Amino acid sequence: PRKIIIDTDPGQDDAVAILLALGSPGEIEVLGITAVAGNVPLALTQKNARIVCELAGRPDIPVYAGCDRPLGRPLVTAEHVHGKTGLDGPSLPDPTMPLQEQHAVDYMIDTIRAHDAGTITLCPLGPLTNIATALQRAPGIAEKVQQIVLMGGAYFEVGNITPTAEFNIYVDPQAADIVFKSGIDIVMMPLDVTHKALVTSARNDAFRALGTPVGIAVAQMTEFFERFDKEKYGSAGAPLHDPCVTAYLIRPELFSGRHVNVEIETASELTLGMTVADWWRVTDRAPNATFIGDLDADGFFALLTERIARL
Ligand code: BDR
Ligand code: CA
Repeated sequence: PRKIIIDTDPGQDDAVAILLALGSPGEIEVLGITAVAGNVPLALTQKNARIVCELAGRPDIPVYAGCDRPLGRPLVTAEHVHGKTGLDGPSLPDPTMPLQEQHAVDYMIDTIRAHDAGTITLCPLGPLTNIATALQRAPGIAEKVQQIVLMGGAYFEVGNITPTAEFNIYVDPQAADIVFKSGIDIVMMPLDVTHKALVTSARNDAFRALGTPVGIAVAQMTEFFERFDKEKYGSAGAPLHDPCVTAYLIRPELFSGRHVNVEIETASELTLGMTVADWWRVTDRAPNATFIGDLDADGFFALLTERIARL
C-alpha cells in the first residue's frame, strides 16, 4: 500500500476522505494525520480528526496539530459551510484518543526524512500552511516526497469563496505558491472535478442503508453540508471535494486531467488565491501539476460506499 500523510481541516468532506483511506488498507497506509486551521480553527480541526479516527475504529492513528494560521494573512474560516464545529450533522462523541505532542510540521519533516525517497505521498485537504512551512524549514524533503495529491483550486469552475478563488488556496495563497513551486509532482483536485462528485439523494440513501454507525454518520454529514451548495449553487447535492484525493490513490483510472503549468495569484486583491492553469499551453512555463477535470462519478460513489461499508 501507498504510505500517506493526510493534512486536513475537518470538515465533513475531509472526514469522508479520511474514512475512505482508513477503509482501504490494501491500497493506502495512513502513517499519520496532521491538522491545520482552515474550515474552523485548529483547536477544532485537530479534535475533529480524532473524532473521525475513533468513528473508524482507528484510535491508533497518530494525530498532530500544526499551524493555527496562514503564513501571512489572518485566518478565514468556513462555518457558513461546515457549521460551528466544522463537523456538524451527526452527533459524535468527544474523542478519548490523545493528540500527539509533536508539532505536525516536525512530524512531517521527521517522517519524510526517516523513509526512503519516493515512498511518502502527502495528501493536503485544507490550506497548505503545514506543507509550506515544512518545505521552508527543510527544503531537502521536496526531493524525497513521492507525490502531493491535494484538493484545491479551480479554473473553468471559477471560485467558491471569492469569484475567482477556491477556499483552500484562498486561505493561504502564499503557502500554495511555495508548494506549487516546490518541484514536487502534484496532482490537484480542483472544483472542476469535485463539483462533479455530488451526493445525490440516491447516493446518500446508499450510505444510510449500510445501517452501520459509519454509514449513518456519513449520510448525516453530507446532508448537513449539502445545504450550502444546494442553496448557493442549486447543485443536486453535496460536492465531495476532499474524498477525490483519497479515491485517486485507490482508483486513479476514475479520474482524468492534464499536466499543465499552474501558478498561484498572491498579490492581486481582486483575484487572490486564483489557480491560473495554462490549460491550452499558451505560455512556455513548465507544467508542474496534473489538473484533474473529470471523474467517473458512479464509479467513485460505488468505491466510496463499498469502502465505508468495511468500517
Ligand atoms: C474545500 O474547502 C473546504 O471547505 C472543504 O473541506 C474542501 O477542502 C473546498 O473548497
Ligand atoms: Ca478540507
